Amino acid sequence: MMSGEWVIAPATVESLPDILEIEEACFPSPWTRKMLEAELSGNRFAHFLLAKRTTPGNDGFPSIIGYLCFWIVFEEVRLMNLAVIESMRHKGIAKALVAQALDAGASQGGMRALLEVRASNHAAQALYRSLGFRAATTRPAYYTNPLEDAVLMELDPIVSEAAQVAEACDRDGGRITPLQ
Ligand SMILES: CC(C)(COP(=O)(O)OP(=O)(O)OC[C@H]1O[C@@H](n2cnc3c(N)ncnc32)[C@H](O)[C@@H]1OP(=O)(O)O)[C@@H](O)C(=O)NCCC(=O)NCCS
Repeated sequence: MMSGEWVIAPATVESLPDILEIEEACFPSPWTRKMLEAELSGNRFAHFLLAKRTTPGNDGFPSIIGYLCFWIVFEEVRLMNLAVIESMRHKGIAKALVAQALDAGASQGGMRALLEVRASNHAAQALYRSLGFRAATTRPAYYTNPLEDAVLMELDPIVSEAAQVAEACDRDGGRITPLQ
């Protein structure tokens, strides 16, 4: 069984192969290497956070266990892609990743946060609701492979919920390191 502590830290371009692996394991139509590369090195609005094990060993499990890509575009924080490897789910890792992105966004002038999520993705919607997001509208046939509606979710304003969750994660053992 995989156990042990984890931390959250900004990604570098060297993390690309690990992010790609997680992406391909977690999504029916994953972002490609080119798309990830463009986000990691060619998009000044984009930020990446990684969840990493603090004690990577020789047990066959990867040291990078989750990631979040988000954009800070002036007053808006857009959550673009989020995934946690299956064996490490239900430990609060996704929640900590989103909370840290919201904190980073708020500290750089972000006023509200939004995201699109597949209508059938109840786990992700529950996660976002647990952080205070509300479903705002549906975007019909937004996704392909398979074709599906998106639910647009919003958190407005972002500050108080993010601070609460970051504090809870800190207390519960998932240590959070500040963004550079
Ligand atoms: C969605 C996903 C990122 C959640 O990751 P996670 O680390 O397991 O989530 P957390 O442990 O931080 O969960 C936080 C909260 O979200 C909700 N939640 C998470 N997974 C859930 C599930 N399968 N069913 C219902 N609620 C769920 C719960 O409210 C949970 O709080 P709780 O554990 O106190 O009940 C993960 O399942 C995943 O990578 N899925 C595949 C990729 C994906 O769908 N990404 C999101 C695209 S928008």
